[in-house]
Amino acid sequence: MKTRIIKVQQRDGSPSEAVLGRWAAEEEKTSNGTITSQETANGTRRNLNRWQVPSSADTTDPSAVADLTALEEAGAYLRTSDIPVAFPTETVYGLGADATRSGAVKGIYAAKGRPSDNPLIVHVCDLDMLRSFLLPHGKTINGSSSSGSKPEGETIPQIYLPLIERFWPGPLTILLPNPQPSKLAPEVTAGLGTFGCRMPASALARTLIKLAGAPLAAPSANASTKPSPTAAQHVLDDLEGRIELILDGGSCDVGVESTVVDGMCQPPVVLRPGGVSIEALRACPGWEAVEKAYKDQAEMGAKSAPRAPGMKYKHYSPKARVVLYEAGFEGGKKGVLEEDLDKALEGCVGHEGREKAVAVIRTKQWPVAAGMRSVGLEQDSRVQGSDEGDNADPGTTSFLVRQGALLSADGETRAARLLDVDLGQDIKRVAHGLFAALRELDRLGADVIFVEGVSDGDDIAAAVMNRLRKAASDIRA
Ligand code: TXA
Ligand code: MG
Repeated sequence: MKTRIIKVQQRDGSPSEAVLGRWAAEEEKTSNGTITSQETANGTRRNLNRWQVPSSADTTDPSAVADLTALEEAGAYLRTSDIPVAFPTETVYGLGADATRSGAVKGIYAAKGRPSDNPLIVHVCDLDMLRSFLLPHGKTINGSSSSGSKPEGETIPQIYLPLIERFWPGPLTILLPNPQPSKLAPEVTAGLGTFGCRMPASALARTLIKLAGAPLAAPSANASTKPSPTAAQHVLDDLEGRIELILDGGSCDVGVESTVVDGMCQPPVVLRPGGVSIEALRACPGWEAVEKAYKDQAEMGAKSAPRAPGMKYKHYSPKARVVLYEAGFEGGKKGVLEEDLDKALEGCVGHEGREKAVAVIRTKQWPVAAGMRSVGLEQDSRVQGSDEGDNADPGTTSFLVRQGALLSADGETRAARLLDVDLGQDIKRVAHGLFAALRELDRLGADVIFVEGVSDGDDIAAAVMNRLRKAASDIRA
């Protein structure tokens, strides 16, 4: 199967984004608690009920016509094909399929090589689409074929309304009751009584969903066990020959997946930390007492026991062995420990008999090369980003990769290749570049990657450390 990458030019947040669609004008709905609009950053009210998409035929600007035509083609493909389409969201690239068709949803599991016992997130373009899926099969919002009655007031559970007001469209997934019989294919929910749903901030994603005419079930578009893709090239690296279409909207803003919450229990819980912080959730009515239902440092890193290689469930993992230094690990404040380096250099032969390559991903305070004896790093320095060519934006999408040599204890002999990535101090940038850095180091042939962890407060650092702990074979704490 030939895999095509189709570039979509309109960028999220740019003035041209509006050509991909717009929110329908406000209709006054005064019934109890129905969401009608949302305040935007510039103070105007935005109505999330209906996302409207123009037709390419009614558009004149050539680049807008090209984008809309591409999305119309992809939408039509999603309606009938059982092969999923990769598309960008603000978090990571998703691998989307019509959530109402079993054959299409099975196609996702086949392309990813993912076990089908894991439920998928359902992506909607607007609240009307969501409301329709809160009704059982056979019922529609504006009158139902079976009872003929219009649902009274808001059907979205009240607990979620403040979150939707505040964080949608955006990196937050909510768990909702799955009505019986459901309009969703059973493969989406893996037999659970709930379904996870989010409305992506990406206008491109919402327009694709609208044109597909159905919500898209979409996991991250990586091969199972690999780091999630934050650029179209990452998807191609993993899924070339397994899917036909990749929509390229540039690199993803957030860089880690959505926060998954369950508000149907008391107190509500966070199932996965992500793009929306726990601290921001706590500020919403009904969510003050939200609890973590995932393992964080308290349960995972604290014991310092290196995990037996091969024992962990592989996730977010590059080919290289990842050694994570927790921020609270006193012995690792200045960089990599001698004993860990010795272990990394054992045998001194890397993948396929090449010279070994030792890599470092730095964040807050490690010096260049994490304090290891090195030469040549400055001379070889170059900028690499998840986004190359015309779309490159060094301010937000790039990080610095330095290449040089690691010296052995005598300070003279070359012991290995050394790769050094600096993600910088800003936690948003760390999140943005994390998966791309892991993938870039894989591409450069790293055998082991030492990562400088950050302290996981209640901000996006919690998501970064959650992913790193899953990627790591060894954790120093
Ligand atoms: O940002 C994201 O969420 C990305 C983009 C593509 O939207 N998607 C993503 O999907 O990360 P995936 O399949 O890689 O992760 C889905 C997560 C899993 O942790 C899954 O267990 C949880 O959501 N999930 C989905 N439905 C659920 C349900 N009904 N109950 C509990 N957890 C659920
Ligand atoms: Mg995933």
